[in-house]
Amino acid sequence: MQSFPAVDPIPLPAPIWLLKLLHIVTLALHFVAVEMLLGGLLLAVLLSLFRHSPASLVTARALARRLTVVMTFVINLAVPPLLFAQVLYGRALYTSSVLIGIYWISIIGLLTLTYWLLYRFTARLEAGKSAWWVGLSAWLLAGGIARLLSTNMTLMLRPEVWRQMYSASAMGAYLPTGDPTLTPRWLMMLAGGLFIGGLWLVYLAGRSTFTAEEKRFLAPLGGKVAAVFGIVYLAAGLWAAGVQPEIVKTGLRTDALYKFAGFAGYSWLVLVALAVLVAAVAGFAKLSAGALGLFSWAGVLLAVLIEITLVVYRDGVRDLTLLAKGYNVWDRAVETNWWVVGLFLALFVGGVGVIGWLVSVVARARKVMEDAA
Ligand code: HEM
Repeated sequence: MQSFPAVDPIPLPAPIWLLKLLHIVTLALHFVAVEMLLGGLLLAVLLSLFRHSPASLVTARALARRLTVVMTFVINLAVPPLLFAQVLYGRALYTSSVLIGIYWISIIGLLTLTYWLLYRFTARLEAGKSAWWVGLSAWLLAGGIARLLSTNMTLMLRPEVWRQMYSASAMGAYLPTGDPTLTPRWLMMLAGGLFIGGLWLVYLAGRSTFTAEEKRFLAPLGGKVAAVFGIVYLAAGLWAAGVQPEIVKTGLRTDALYKFAGFAGYSWLVLVALAVLVAAVAGFAKLSAGALGLFSWAGVLLAVLIEITLVVYRDGVRDLTLLAKGYNVWDRAVETNWWVVGLFLALFVGGVGVIGWLVSVVARARKVMEDAA
């Protein structure tokens, strides 16, 4: 019997390739923000707990202040991919969301609590109070949210277990078991947090608001953390790819459409290796101010490209897994309303322009030294 609910008779209002493109771009940006949150927060907690030098406290405070802003990006950059994913994969995603309903809806509460704890963490650090346990609680909650998201995004690919889960509980009170791809996917995001978090410290080392002494602390620490966890991230990624079903692996190598996703997977490998190299140089070599500036921006560029290639690869894995189970994402009626698409794109570009302008205002603002605030 067909497990997927009947297709919605209303046609899609825009071409599938456009919806997929927008999904990939916005999800990659969501992942950059998620990794900054997961990694930056854990680093700030550890730096505030083990205060080796004044610079470690300054760094913890600098990260914490930025994390509340990062959280706004985590959330705002999460809504568009959620909407695009629901449009493209609704019959699978809505079903899995209902099956784990209690946990899925709990994300709203968990997220609110995490956000509040982030503000408390920052305020306690600013006031010179012990804050690590508050930050650690926020990190555990954020890691829990990540686990629930990985759970749903993998459950949506397993229609074969839906009936049995629904028979066990129609309340959405059980979490699925027995999926070999879930844990490596989740661990990959956690390790990726420390990897991107390390690159973030290298980036901060290139900023003029830190003193020379603080920069001498930031670059080696960030470089070493990123180099070590870049390797862990790579290993978790290979693990997640290795446990995919054979039909998906073959599709990524041979399917005319999805060979590109397979290529993105290889590109991801090369980019992570390159970023580990950049991080190791920043971590172990004494760089001049000019070289440090260059390395800090190289880290930013690599981080964004790594998330884009990851999302393209992941998209191929999802489509091929669903295709093997009878769900073809391209098989939908489309009735494009070009006026609406045009208006959407104009607003999208306008929105990006406004964000660019805001960033430029912040960049031109009078600089306050981190340790003075
Ligand atoms: C602390 C907050 C959050 C964290 C740590 C987080 C983490 C993650 C992680 C780890 C994944 C990848 C899961 C996987 O594929 O294995 C993910 C995907 C996703 N997240 Fe978030 N997330 C957060 C908040 C949100 C919020 C608030 C929303 C919705 C408004 C959201 C929407 C999504 C969507 C839609 C995807 C997957 C989209 C797709 O596969 O097409 N996230 N997130």
